[in-house]
Amino acid sequence: MSEIRVESLVKQYGDTTALDGVSLAFPPGSFTALLGPSGCGKTTMLRLIAGFEAPSEGRVFFGDRLVADPKRQLPPEARNVGVVFQSYALWPHMDVAENVCYPLRARQVASADIPARVAAVLDIVGLGDFAQRRIDELSGGQRQRVALARCLVAEARIILFDEPLANLDMHLRSAMVDAFRDIHRRTGATIVYVTHDQAEALALADRVAVMSGGRLLQAAAPQEIYRSPADAAVAGFVGRGSLISGNTVHNSGSTSTIDVAGHRVAARSLGEPTGAVKILLRPEALRIATDGLPATVLDSVYRGAVHEVRLALSGPGQQLLVDSTEALATGERVHVAVSDAWVVPGA
Ligand SMILES: Nc1ncnc2c1ncn2[C@@H]1O[C@H](COP(=O)(O)OP(=O)(O)OP(=O)(O)O)[C@@H](O)[C@H]1O
Ligand SMILES: [Mg+2]
Repeated sequence: MSEIRVESLVKQYGDTTALDGVSLAFPPGSFTALLGPSGCGKTTMLRLIAGFEAPSEGRVFFGDRLVADPKRQLPPEARNVGVVFQSYALWPHMDVAENVCYPLRARQVASADIPARVAAVLDIVGLGDFAQRRIDELSGGQRQRVALARCLVAEARIILFDEPLANLDMHLRSAMVDAFRDIHRRTGATIVYVTHDQAEALALADRVAVMSGGRLLQAAAPQEIYRSPADAAVAGFVGRGSLISGNTVHNSGSTSTIDVAGHRVAARSLGEPTGAVKILLRPEALRIATDGLPATVLDSVYRGAVHEVRLALSGPGQQLLVDSTEALATGERVHVAVSDAWVVPGA
């Protein structure tokens, strides 16, 4: 049985439809990243699961228990859900331990049990030595860890994160990504993690749910979202790559032969595509070679590990991104060998 299930969820704010019929189940212990552009309904989804908002239509279940429909909602405090938002709402004048033990005092946990539980969660987030430090004497990353500890101390089965790393710099973010992975492993909690950072989503989650305009576009393992996006919107939103026009020549099982400007490309496909299609080409599946798609170099940008080369294929607006170990000169004519491609459904 799923830990959380949302069914045909709709949330209307006046004329704005923030959620437009989303159905999704979250298995126990799963780590789902909700990914999508600003305004697509990610925070709204968390607020409905936590119980801060009522659905306009549809239902929310925890296990087989109905916790919300448009008529009745279980209040947030009765749902035992941990929530960590982007602004971590700590009490600046209290020290770290006082902030972290607050949910336990509010729930009237026996005071003899509190110090050990606080110490244990501070250890998990790497703040064991900071218990007596005031919040306003901590860095942004340390404050975020306190918010995390305060959420963990309640031992909720379900934890919701809304862009918890948005305020941190790149180095802290990657350290915190490791901390989240560790916390998930230790607690086994069911986690829903909102982000618009796709690298974070792909690195952390066992499943990525991509949303747009209040709708769910695709929910699948990170590798599948990346390799086999369900439509052009997911392909465009997740990872670098190019959508190239071609024509179906032949299908054989789950592989199609696609003609791109007179050259044959083997592409993975769903069903049996016919006629004009769009194929997704990721930079790492392309290589400058002596044979393959003919192209002209538009520009070459140094990215540290590689040069990202933008190429023009024949045909209007047809551009490719290729990672190359060497810089290439604008105007140079090259060929591109393709080792993997995906026929994007419906594109
Ligand atoms: N309380 C509210 N009243 C009116 N409209 C709202 C309210 N909350 C959200 N909305 C609207 O609902 C839509 C979805 O908002 P939501 O906050 O869920 O987006 P989001 O995906 O979390 O975006 P972001 O990445 O920018 O945080 C937006 O168009 C937003 O303006
Ligand atoms: Mg949001």
